[in-house]
Amino acid sequence: MLLADSVTKDYAGPSGPLPVLSGVSLRLEKGEAISIMGPSGSGKSTLLAILGALEAPSSGTVMLDGKNPFALSEPDLAKFRNEKIGFVFQDHCLLPQCTVFENVSIPTLVGASDAGAAERAKSLLDQVGLSARLGHLPSQLSGGEKQRVAIARALIREPRLLLCDEPTGNLDRKSADAVADLLLDLHRRRETILILVTHSDKLAARVPVGYELVDGRLERR
Ligand SMILES: Nc1ncnc2c1ncn2[C@@H]1O[C@H](COP(=O)(O)OP(=O)(O)O)[C@@H](O)[C@H]1O
Ligand SMILES: [Mg+2]
Repeated sequence: MLLADSVTKDYAGPSGPLPVLSGVSLRLEKGEAISIMGPSGSGKSTLLAILGALEAPSSGTVMLDGKNPFALSEPDLAKFRNEKIGFVFQDHCLLPQCTVFENVSIPTLVGASDAGAAERAKSLLDQVGLSARLGHLPSQLSGGEKQRVAIARALIREPRLLLCDEPTGNLDRKSADAVADLLLDLHRRRETILILVTHSDKLAARVPVGYELVDGRLERR
């Protein structure tokens, strides 16, 4: 379960703190999915960074599977993120010098050795339709294919929480639809918690519960 309680975030501005989030509360169980919309600058990426334990809130608490990530030591926090949270960003963020297979495997290279990692990477790349591209470099792939690699990478550790920040934002309509189909299908089969930030009404409508970030708070759409 993911729990956010009264999360706030201020950034330092020239004339005092700039509030970005002003009291976000959420409770999501295994398998649940929500979309979050909102204008540029409304704090969507900031909220994902906090829920994904990349950035601490100014106040309020976040708990994932009963643990407050911000109470962990830095090495334990890195391990927690690696094991429990998958990210897909608007820009695929693949390593250009690594093959498709290597990019997907990267999260399994840290920490204790991960026995089934290679098989899981191959299986995931098969599920995203890229089994014929294991040795390709990112530069040899289309935008939609790169994003599919990023999705496989986000799922390789079988995370509890999958955070997607405008995952189809850079794609043409056809590739965006294909990436969305894949993402939603993989989410359903794995029962991860899915939080999908998007500017697309069409994509948001495919997720059962929709929110909008308005004045630093989540409102149901
Ligand atoms: N590290 C940071 N330092 C200062 N201000 C930031 C930082 N990150 C984001 N902001 C500000 O917080 C606001 C929300 O940003 P962001 O979460 O990226 O919005 P969105 O993803 O909805 O476009 C913006 O005004 C942005 O300038
Ligand atoms: Mg953003």
